[in-house]
Amino acid sequence: MASLALDSLGSIDPAAPKATGANAVPVARTETGPRGVGTVRFENVAKTYRSAGGEVRALDDVSLDVSSGAIFGIIGRSGAGKSTLLRTVNRLEEPTSGRVLVNGEPIEALRTDGLVALRRRIGMIFQHFNLLSTKTVRQNVALPLKVAGIGKAEVDRRVAEALRLVGLEDKAETYPSRLSGGQKQRVGIARALVSDPEILLCDEATSALDPETTLSILGLLRDINRRLGLTIILITHEMSVIREICTDVVVLEAGRIAESGPVWRVFGAPEHPATRALLAPLTRDVPDDLAQRLLSHPAPGAQAVLRITYAGRSAPDLSALVAATGGSVRLLQAGVERIQGHAVGRLLIAAKGMQAEARLRAIGETVEGIGYVAADD
Ligand SMILES: Nc1ncnc2c1ncn2[C@@H]1O[C@H](COP(=O)(O)OP(=O)(O)OP(=O)(O)O)[C@@H](O)[C@H]1O
Ligand SMILES: [Mg+2]
Repeated sequence: MASLALDSLGSIDPAAPKATGANAVPVARTETGPRGVGTVRFENVAKTYRSAGGEVRALDDVSLDVSSGAIFGIIGRSGAGKSTLLRTVNRLEEPTSGRVLVNGEPIEALRTDGLVALRRRIGMIFQHFNLLSTKTVRQNVALPLKVAGIGKAEVDRRVAEALRLVGLEDKAETYPSRLSGGQKQRVGIARALVSDPEILLCDEATSALDPETTLSILGLLRDINRRLGLTIILITHEMSVIREICTDVVVLEAGRIAESGPVWRVFGAPEHPATRALLAPLTRDVPDDLAQRLLSHPAPGAQAVLRITYAGRSAPDLSALVAATGGSVRLLQAGVERIQGHAVGRLLIAAKGMQAEARLRAIGETVEGIGYVAADD
């Protein structure tokens, strides 16, 4: 499949290597937008749906850059405009105002041939797979190439390569009804990749799958991103999916950007209430039993309960915590993970001495006092 990627690169810009994953090369901004293969720029994109029932402003002034080789997540509540935004990239939706640039080129002026060529460079996979039930796996994957008028030998070669990439070589002659959900989505991915796209759009591609299959599909997408240097833009309601594979994320709220940035930063220090609400299932709060015993004022012998937040700094330095708290510290709850090489999460500690909070702050910790508990709690 690597050869496919090189083929498509060669036909567009042989000088521009595709960047991969988190190592994506920063994209130079030009007047027409970032020009690297697989870049997308949204410029003041707005979309209003008009119907007999009235108007819906689905997107409102969305400006955003997706860099080459990124795995870019779009999150937001139901109806926030995620699918509408994704579908402007291959012009399944036309913005009411503003414009979208793919590889630095505005796409709104493309006529029939140009639009067909654009859609061939942008693969798409869906929640419900959209496979043709009367066709075999091989025929489903071959379809985009057949429509493009490509010769049989070339079709056979590319289909075999795409099926190998998704691990379904042995299912070529099987019909979709005999496949599991995960296998169906692999066929969907193979069909999206067979035209050798530079960008892959995924609208809730794992929502119909169980957690284990979701992980295997995410692993496949990450592998494809790394091996082929493909840019992936994905929508999901599962925050763990974003945390697992995305490099960047945008949060949409009622058609507008609430916040966006690298996943470690947005997830580590969410600023917008919409982001906080979306992340609530991932965020460990004060456990109920502790919350019930929490005192608002210091009592004799009580310890201060402190929440230390990590949002992208190096890993928690436990010896520094012990030193700053005078050696008397208990770990009540811990949830610190690494996202893209950054420590993200929280520690809940109980520390003796009323100066602990100030001393922790003095050594650069992001700390918040949330109450007091008896020392033996
Ligand atoms: N074809 C359409 N005609 C009219 N209104 C539409 C159309 N498509 C979407 N909308 C409206 O635009 C808004 C954004 O829809 P969109 O499908 O982009 O949301 P979403 O974030 O993908 O939601 P979900 O998470 O439920 O898929 C919603 O209010 C929706 O009802
Ligand atoms: Mg949607």
